[in-house]
Amino acid sequence: MATADQVKAMVRSHADGDDARFFSIALQVAARAARSGQTNFAQELRDLVEELRKEPPRSRKPIPVAQPRGELSGLLGVTYPTTRMADLVLEGPVRDRLNRVLLEQRQRDRLREQGFHPLRKLLLVGPPGTGKTMTASALAGELHLPLFVIRLDGLITKFMGETAAKLRLVFDALRETHGVYLFDEVDALGGERARSNDVGEIRRVLNSFLQFLELEETESLLVAATNHPQLLDSAMFRRFDAVIEYPLPTAPVIKALVLNRLATIKVGRVSWGHVTKAAAGLSHAEVTMAAERAAKDLILLDGREIVTADLVSALNQRRAESRR
Ligand SMILES: Nc1ncnc2c1ncn2[C@@H]1O[C@H](COP(=O)(O)OP(=O)(O)OP(=O)(O)O)[C@@H](O)[C@H]1O
Ligand SMILES: [Mg+2]
Repeated sequence: MATADQVKAMVRSHADGDDARFFSIALQVAARAARSGQTNFAQELRDLVEELRKEPPRSRKPIPVAQPRGELSGLLGVTYPTTRMADLVLEGPVRDRLNRVLLEQRQRDRLREQGFHPLRKLLLVGPPGTGKTMTASALAGELHLPLFVIRLDGLITKFMGETAAKLRLVFDALRETHGVYLFDEVDALGGERARSNDVGEIRRVLNSFLQFLELEETESLLVAATNHPQLLDSAMFRRFDAVIEYPLPTAPVIKALVLNRLATIKVGRVSWGHVTKAAAGLSHAEVTMAAERAAKDLILLDGREIVTADLVSALNQRRAESRR
């Protein structure tokens, strides 16, 4: 029979909503029962765990926002984004590739029936502020999934010496809970850093990350993001289903970003040539912030409408600030 400690641990993991731990303790109870000759009970319990583990995540209860709890809570942040693809302003090819991911995810049961896997491991590469994190939110929002964020560099410094074990916890969760998992700043596991790391910690973490990427049993969408693709191990690149590059915004994207942000504001005649020139080299995030700045100035100064000079000056200001 179960020991007192096992019963307590099961109650605790149930309260934490930690299915993985709950099932693993149930299996320990089964093993103990088998050893003491209760073979029928042991087999029934094992079968029950197997059956429940197979249950597709979608048919389980929705995960409460408070999760993940217990040890996982320090490693994973969870949100339920309402961001949609329409909120993102992207180059055509980037949008096409993301739409393809969404299509395959939505039709994954049909694909699997015929032995195909949907696209689900994405590497997003590009400068800061080009929409990589926002993409992970939009994928979660479109698919009505929770978004779990794992910051690898934080994980490594925080748990130096035991990162690989912590990462395993994250991966177990990923198998158990259907969601979008964002591994931000994945270059923290990059070859360069791994080589210069004496204790081999990063190398170990990189290896367990790579092994994990090979596992096909999970349905979850895995999104890794980096500003420094040159630091990544080539072994890492190979394991993704798709590597999507996020360029700095081009002229039409800049215009769309500004108009998006000014949707509720009166915009007068704007010379977009001047605006896009002033925005050259700025990221989507910076262009958005400049548009916001112009909108707020208009409101605070009781202006009538936004004109070219308002946008150009906000963009110049933004550029000066980002140089600092
Ligand atoms: N493509 C985009 N379309 C619309 N808004 C964007 C886009 N990219 C960035 N933004 C705006 O900039 C903010 C920051 O973008 P985001 O966090 O997605 O950048 P990132 O690429 O993840 O940057 P980093 O590499 O620094 O993590 C967003 O919340 C959004 O307001
Ligand atoms: Mg980001």
